[in-house]
Amino acid sequence: MGIVIAIDGPAAAGKGTLSRQIAEAYHFHHLDTGLTYRATAKALIDAGLPLDDETVAAKMAAEVDLSGLDRDVLSAHAIGEAASRIAVMPSVRRALVDAQRAFSRKEPGTVLDGRDIGTVVCPDAPVKLYVTASPEIRARRRHEEIVAKGDNADYEAIFAEVKTRDDRDMSRSDSPLKPAPDAHLLDTSEMSIEAAFQAAKAITDAALKNS
Ligand code: DC
Repeated sequence: MGIVIAIDGPAAAGKGTLSRQIAEAYHFHHLDTGLTYRATAKALIDAGLPLDDETVAAKMAAEVDLSGLDRDVLSAHAIGEAASRIAVMPSVRRALVDAQRAFSRKEPGTVLDGRDIGTVVCPDAPVKLYVTASPEIRARRRHEEIVAKGDNADYEAIFAEVKTRDDRDMSRSDSPLKPAPDAHLLDTSEMSIEAAFQAAKAITDAALKNS
């Protein structure tokens, strides 16, 4: 049984970058669990299947191969929206959580990032971080990312989408996004990527020493 570092937080809070850096620092395996929801959604779209049939979606979820998750292919905005819709379905979540738990047992340890890692997937994780930033800052970062790639983006539209995604992730009845009672809160609104990494590393070092 490896050590688990659970990192949760809303969309575009910077937890992806942070999780990769933390995994590298400790030489742990990393799983972005959002990609498992995205891969399920993409498989449904590619097969021309509906996004509102829970039985069909759960079957797709059970077939997702964690070793074949391609961030570039799955990062499309439309796939994120579709993922957020199927993520409300309890039997889809059950199938993906089973696979995520199996991954979390890898030695010497794992970093899992998502929405429900500290609360549902790995409630016994010795290190739990809840990474957040204000909706305005998250929308601004997302906007800058898209513009940097040379694409057009409308800040107001992105801000509205961030709020819609938050509402859906936080209000669903199965495994809503919320900090675990024992999670360390990390608000990155005023932090650079490097400062956020240093803060997360300090919290992790201290938690591992006490575990
Ligand atoms: O983090 P992301 O944007 O890749 O996640 C896409 C969607 O997947 C998100 O809106 C909610 C869902 N998700 C989830 O419900 N639970 C997780 N552990 C990870 C993602």
